[in-house]
Amino acid sequence: MNYKKVYSFLLCAAFCLSVCAEVNYQVIPLPQQVSFDKSGQYMILSKGMTVSYPAGNALMQRNAEFAAEYMGLTVKPKDKKQADVNLMLGLKSKNPDDYAISINKKGITIQGASESGVFYGIQTLRKSIMNETGEIRLPYAWVCGSPRFAYRGTELDCARHFFPVAFIKKFIDILALHGINRFHWHLTDDQGWRFEVKALPELAQKASVRPCTVIGKNLGLSDPDNTLYDDTPETGYYTQEEMRDIVAYAAERYITIVPEIDLPGHMIAALSVYPDLGCTGGPYKVWSIWGVADDVLCAGNPKTLEFLKTVYGELCDVFPSKLIHIGGDESPRVRWKSCPKCQAKMKELDLKNEAQLQTYINKEMEAFLAERGRQIIGWDETLEGGLSENAAVMSWRGYDGGKAAAKLHHQVVMTPHNNCYFDYYQLKNRDAQPLGIGGYLPLSKVYAMEPVPEELTKEEAKYIMGVQCNLWSEYVISPDHAEFMLLPRLAAMSEVQWLKPEEKDYEQFLQRLPALEQIYRRLGYKFCTSYE
Ligand code: ACM
Ligand code: ZN
Repeated sequence: MNYKKVYSFLLCAAFCLSVCAEVNYQVIPLPQQVSFDKSGQYMILSKGMTVSYPAGNALMQRNAEFAAEYMGLTVKPKDKKQADVNLMLGLKSKNPDDYAISINKKGITIQGASESGVFYGIQTLRKSIMNETGEIRLPYAWVCGSPRFAYRGTELDCARHFFPVAFIKKFIDILALHGINRFHWHLTDDQGWRFEVKALPELAQKASVRPCTVIGKNLGLSDPDNTLYDDTPETGYYTQEEMRDIVAYAAERYITIVPEIDLPGHMIAALSVYPDLGCTGGPYKVWSIWGVADDVLCAGNPKTLEFLKTVYGELCDVFPSKLIHIGGDESPRVRWKSCPKCQAKMKELDLKNEAQLQTYINKEMEAFLAERGRQIIGWDETLEGGLSENAAVMSWRGYDGGKAAAKLHHQVVMTPHNNCYFDYYQLKNRDAQPLGIGGYLPLSKVYAMEPVPEELTKEEAKYIMGVQCNLWSEYVISPDHAEFMLLPRLAAMSEVQWLKPEEKDYEQFLQRLPALEQIYRRLGYKFCTSYE
């Protein structure tokens, strides 16, 4: 090579170093397999490339539109001429969420075991290229992904603080980016009722309004002397029309919304407008403090079940999810012990204790929802009086509830607070983050979580259908704050949800994280930039 050739070679190499990017497909959640073609060849992704889908399949068309939107492609239905990116069904796999991407001389093919699998393949490709600028080189390769759990959830509490519809959609986009497929929507609590019930309009109109909010670190009844309040009312509810729109928005992204109306506790907001549903008859006010209230729905009053069936009937009209969350957590039984109606009900049904009275309500709700083709899921307190026949359990106080339920052959979602409560602080230095509820859940601890307890047999372990993180919002007061609490811990959670224990590697995850953070920046997501 003469010096001119060497010079032009070096010039080309330098140019390429600055404007060419060769992607490696090592995204979050990590694909199960990334095998590069030995040829070392690559294709170049460029603007104006086409993406095709099987004509006549509306879901695949929507997938193609997502691919086009994410990667600057042009959509066209499949015809004789191969597109640059081809979306296909037919991947032979039992798991509908599985995908395979091949990049070779024919172009890119994203094949799914179902439409959802294709969607996850698109997400992986999108994340692979999204950071890059200039010429994007896609090395010929074979990339496959397969999630470990069918239920991959995130909960958002919209009762303690109301989050507007625009943010709920952004939140859904964030879940989709992380391969999460369940949005557990906490819609009601002591501090606000956010679900419009057309037959009971006062719930939305009045029970959604909290005149003021306790300020500072005080946790409700544990510090009854606190008298400092923010006097700006906290208000807001979702109309059924808005919720239907959100359900459809989520469904396009393969996310099922599991709605929760928490019963029989966490009901003070409802009691404030229907006081005769409480054991004492009230009066009650929408709570302005945090904590656990002694006042709950009266289990002996027949109007309570009437009320619940009206509410859950409309809930089923809005949300098509098979799983419906009935809450069941933190419901003290102290009022029931001294309530003549509750005690009479216990006598009538020959119940031994108040925990069984809670199970009586759960069974009634289970039967009501089963008629509509639904299945109940409740927090692990629902085990205390005996589970109703088909109830699933969400284990939050630790692993024990989930273990017990799996041994009884009930489905379980693991969400032990020590590993899964994203309202906990993520850094040791409390001054470096907004005021929080307490606790300490750093990124590394989320990543280390193992959802299936060792003590379970292989057969019992099959009942652990998934794992979920929760964002309670007592102290999470704005969309920006919510994003800061979610990210990047959601990235760690997504690998807990997608990867088998032997596929996880925290150090390697940390190396892949900056690329995802760059995507957060591009999409305008707030996130915690340091982690422990
Ligand atoms: C809960 O955190 N009370 C489920
Ligand atoms: Zn009662």
